Amino acid sequence: MSQTYRWNVANHARGYDAAAEHIHPHYVAIQDAILAQIARPADADFLLVDLGGGSGRLAEKFLERFSRATAIVVDQSEPFLEIAAARMTRFNGRGTCQVARLQDDWTSGLPHSPEVITSMSAIHHLDSREKQQLYQRCYDVLEPLGLLLNGDEIRAGDDRQYLAALETWAAHMRKTVAAGLVDDAMRPMLEKWIERNVDHFEQPRSSGDDCHETIEAQLGYFCECGFRGVDAPWHEQMWAVLQGIK
Ligand SMILES: C[S@@+](CC[C@H](N)C(=O)[O-])C[C@H]1O[C@@H](n2cnc3c(N)ncnc32)[C@H](O)[C@@H]1O
Repeated sequence: MSQTYRWNVANHARGYDAAAEHIHPHYVAIQDAILAQIARPADADFLLVDLGGGSGRLAEKFLERFSRATAIVVDQSEPFLEIAAARMTRFNGRGTCQVARLQDDWTSGLPHSPEVITSMSAIHHLDSREKQQLYQRCYDVLEPLGLLLNGDEIRAGDDRQYLAALETWAAHMRKTVAAGLVDDAMRPMLEKWIERNVDHFEQPRSSGDDCHETIEAQLGYFCECGFRGVDAPWHEQMWAVLQGIK
């Protein structure tokens, strides 16, 4: 992945961290929906890995909720992980970071098998084959009965419905910009998102773009990997939480 990949620019990482809950209309709801699926006692001692965890906001909420658990944020972006590491300092070593691409073997850096793997707004940057390989890697590394939870952008099967959802989100992004909720570094990122996804809707997507896939396609990948209890416990517009149990 080139050095200029948009998520590797420090200003973009800071800008996204500051504005995510405004840019993403269901940012907090999806975090809450993911955490709600982790049915463990508040004092349970277990490991969660957050893939593409960015600035560590989901890991922070997780560590607040589970007082003896540990979290590892895996991400390819050092600028994002610097913010995550600072955010998790107060948990006295329970929250750590690992720089890795989701296409590579991030499992070799783990201290032991995780009980839970989460991800939010990251896996849709992988193409179909990469998603399938990643989901298989998640299945293989999880503890028996371990849980995979991906709260991500998805597409409708129908092109018109999919485009309408992208246009609705683009209009929402423009409103947040007009309200002064997005900094100078993030604004061009949002314009480029609209250009790629709405203006050039027909153009093929490749790894690193927004490679949205349907809930059904991705739950199919989960099943092929061996996951059971495959389901989408939360779904609104172009976002869903996808779940599988090993
Ligand atoms: C939109 S941000 C979401 C960050 C965080 N999960 C959140 O919800 O706030 C996307 C994140 O995915 C990471 N990412 C994108 N492609 C990746 C890849 N191939 N490998 C690892 N991380 C990736 C980016 O570096 C960035 O931190």
